[in-house]
Amino acid sequence: MIAKNKKFKKEPAKKPKAEKIKKSEDGKTTVEKNKKTWVALRGMHDILPKEEKYWKTMYNGASKLAEFFQFGRIETPLLEEASLFVRSIGKGTDVVEKEMYVFDDADGSKVCLRPEATASAMRAYVSDGLWNNPQPVKMWYWGPMFRHDRPQAGRYRQFTQVGFENIGVADPAADAELILIAYNFYKDLGLPVEIHINSIGTPEERERYKNELLNYYRTKKSYLCEECRKRMQKNPLRLLDCKEDQCQGIKEEAPQIIDWLTESSKSYFMKVLEFLDELGVPYILRPSLVRGLDYYTHTVFEIYPITGEGPAQSALGGGGRYDLLAEELGGKATPAAGMALGIDRSVLYMKEYYQQNQLRVEKEPFDIFFAQLGDRAKGRTMKLLDGLRESGIKIAFNLYKNSLKTQLDIANELKVPYALILGQKEVQEGTVIIRDMESGIQEIVDQKKIEMALKKKLKKFDEVSK
Ligand code: HAM
Repeated sequence: MIAKNKKFKKEPAKKPKAEKIKKSEDGKTTVEKNKKTWVALRGMHDILPKEEKYWKTMYNGASKLAEFFQFGRIETPLLEEASLFVRSIGKGTDVVEKEMYVFDDADGSKVCLRPEATASAMRAYVSDGLWNNPQPVKMWYWGPMFRHDRPQAGRYRQFTQVGFENIGVADPAADAELILIAYNFYKDLGLPVEIHINSIGTPEERERYKNELLNYYRTKKSYLCEECRKRMQKNPLRLLDCKEDQCQGIKEEAPQIIDWLTESSKSYFMKVLEFLDELGVPYILRPSLVRGLDYYTHTVFEIYPITGEGPAQSALGGGGRYDLLAEELGGKATPAAGMALGIDRSVLYMKEYYQQNQLRVEKEPFDIFFAQLGDRAKGRTMKLLDGLRESGIKIAFNLYKNSLKTQLDIANELKVPYALILGQKEVQEGTVIIRDMESGIQEIVDQKKIEMALKKKLKKFDEVSK
């Protein structure tokens, strides 16, 4: 059942406070406005300009990997029919039971802010006829997801995922490729991670295993935590996810799913592991890994930060094979696998790791600083800057500072090798001064020749000017 979300009930509109019109002693009228201020909703957060360097580095890294591994970009709507996720993710899961942002659309239908995008990608594969294309169809996405979870560090109600879905082949190489992409994503950022991996086989194998698991847990019932007792009724596989101390010993002794897989499922899994060995991707076999979404079959995996402070509680990303989802959503039987990485969590990890290890996100340095003096020069500077936009020269400027000294101080701070200086005289003469910031030597050049003159001086254009 979709959780009836009382939280979305319309609240009675509050009467806006009347604005007070005040007259001061000198006869001026001022309006004293209502002083209410707004903050982001609980569990939602702003990503400020100072964070941009992390987000951009991650986006660029993902986009490069997508290009190399030939995944095409897909963008699906943020709103979908709620039943799409109920059918895909499964009724008994936390995401569907507790975390979906579901509400009535104007026509009375139940819609939902997407909690993840695998279901959306598969919906698109079926409804947009992508099964007609050469197979597999490899797609990636980057965007916001919504889960009405209890907010805490690294857990938000709106968060960003980058995801990779490979639909149309049942080949262990596809599983290994996805894990390699996830691993490389962090490796390229210099972030150490570990991959936890398991196979949960087919639904039939799982059913047999669940019975065995329940038989075992029944004998331990009196030692279990409250939540695990509920799990025994609702979703026995989630018993393996319990983090409570009192259940750890019981969990460790529990039967392992791998022993309940058929030879063909085992051999599929072994091939995935062999590929990872060949690729040198380190992994940890974790028999208790079952994942929290119902659509998975066979390979499942998660990516964890290596913090040096014991096992990390929350995964940076996760994924697996979901061979039955296409049929579940009304398409024909189509094998598939995918994974998604949480960007908010990855940014937190990157910041922390970079700070601890004194690493920095290197920004491309500026080549020059363009300084201006006087109103006419300001306008001309804007025009010349606009003309240099496509030149490949990285230019710093500050049009709101009027003092030349202040501007040259900024140029020094930025450690640019050259500054351009434009004053009234240069505007009249159609020239500009190029100042060597180290020697202080200045040279006058025609405004029409700035780009050429600078490219001759700047080392990075050596090849171009030869
Ligand atoms: P998931 O494990 O639910 O898998 O989410 C993947 C990642 O999204 C998590 O490891 C975490 O980094 C991030 N994430 C999830 N919930 C939150 C939250 N509340 N706040 C911050 N970050 C969060 C999926 O979503 C599957 N669709 C992955 C997949 C793709 N499987 C096959 N293809």
